[in-house]
Amino acid sequence: MLNVKRVVLRSRPGKNGIPVPENFRVDEVLESSELKEGQVFVRTLFLSVDPYMRCRMNDDTGAEYLLPWRLEECVDGGGVGVVEASKNQSLSVGAVVTSFKWPWQTYSVMDGSLLQEVDPEMADGHLSYVLGALGMPGLTALLGVREKGHVTPGSHQTMVISGAAGACGSIAGQIGRLDGCERVVGICGSDQKCQTLVTELGFTAGINYKKGDISSALREHCPAGIDVYFDNVGGAISDAVISLMNPGGHVILCGQISQYNKDLPYPPPLSEETQETLHRKNITRERFVVLNYMEKHAEGLTQLSHWVKTGQIKVLETVVNGIENMGEAFCSMMTGGNIGKQVVKISD
Ligand SMILES: NC(=O)c1ccc[n+]([C@@H]2O[C@H](COP(=O)([O-])OP(=O)(O)OC[C@H]3O[C@@H](n4cnc5c(N)ncnc54)[C@H](OP(=O)(O)O)[C@@H]3O)[C@@H](O)[C@H]2O)c1
Repeated sequence: MLNVKRVVLRSRPGKNGIPVPENFRVDEVLESSELKEGQVFVRTLFLSVDPYMRCRMNDDTGAEYLLPWRLEECVDGGGVGVVEASKNQSLSVGAVVTSFKWPWQTYSVMDGSLLQEVDPEMADGHLSYVLGALGMPGLTALLGVREKGHVTPGSHQTMVISGAAGACGSIAGQIGRLDGCERVVGICGSDQKCQTLVTELGFTAGINYKKGDISSALREHCPAGIDVYFDNVGGAISDAVISLMNPGGHVILCGQISQYNKDLPYPPPLSEETQETLHRKNITRERFVVLNYMEKHAEGLTQLSHWVKTGQIKVLETVVNGIENMGEAFCSMMTGGNIGKQVVKISD
């Protein structure tokens, strides 16, 4: 038996509530490391906190592919770790593995069928990247741009990204640049984030939505209008962007985080004015879900890995230490405390 720390969901914030760290609790339990055929014993290295988890805090997630977290049970999500004992023929001791169903525990017995083995070389040794640039957020950025963005090299397009300094946004903007957009303008929540977008990630400009008028800043930085909009946030920011889009433009409907603490369906309804603009200007706005493109994930990861290893994509991360801080890290990410991907380091 081993003493294991785990995070359980203590309470739900309510569909219209703001999540707080106290919604979670850290327990210590005794876990047996005895394995059945097919199982492995894993040590957790890094855990991910992601916006979709806000829906899992509700008793009904609103999405058929997402189950709610259960009260007083161990929470799960994206994780990466190392196999310490194995009764699974395909996973040997020392293998680095990842899963979308990783329990928020320091150590776990897991069924091998829930795990994918990771080549640490692919992440240039940075195993936390498996939860960010070289995982679900990176694939969301790449496939979102490629499947819904209609970026055409040489056609002088302007791309705008909201939530631009976050896990998906920071990669999406860099891909927009690599794929040939002439201008890539990011919207995010602080001057420091704006500066990082420009000086470190090669964005054309950054706009702090908490300061000044977004529409006039967009007009200044997008003199030829907006052709492609990678939308992570929705709400008033997206209304402002869409109103300045060119006819025939494309919205990549990735996420609507500004609306996640409201009891609304997904995607949340648009204002009449924005709907009219989309219609009148023949702008596409198709919902994008990364899990609908599983067959493109392997190739996508190879592309992302190449860009990261050759320095064409720069990866930003905010790393917090310790399983005790999972709830804090989640709430901080939901309110913009992160730059790049928010991860929690559980062990070395
Ligand atoms: N479609 C898919 O398959 C898919 C997959 C993954 C993620 N997503 C979506 O992509 C979006 C980004 O996810 P992520 O994992 O990359 O998270 P993230 O951007 O790393 O973190 C969330 C960010 O949202 C911003 N934010 C929070 N509240 C806001 C508000 N009211 N208005 C504007 N910005 C706000 C904060 O940055 P600021 O400092 O800029 O406010 C925060 O850092 C989310 O909407 C998520 O649901 C979709």
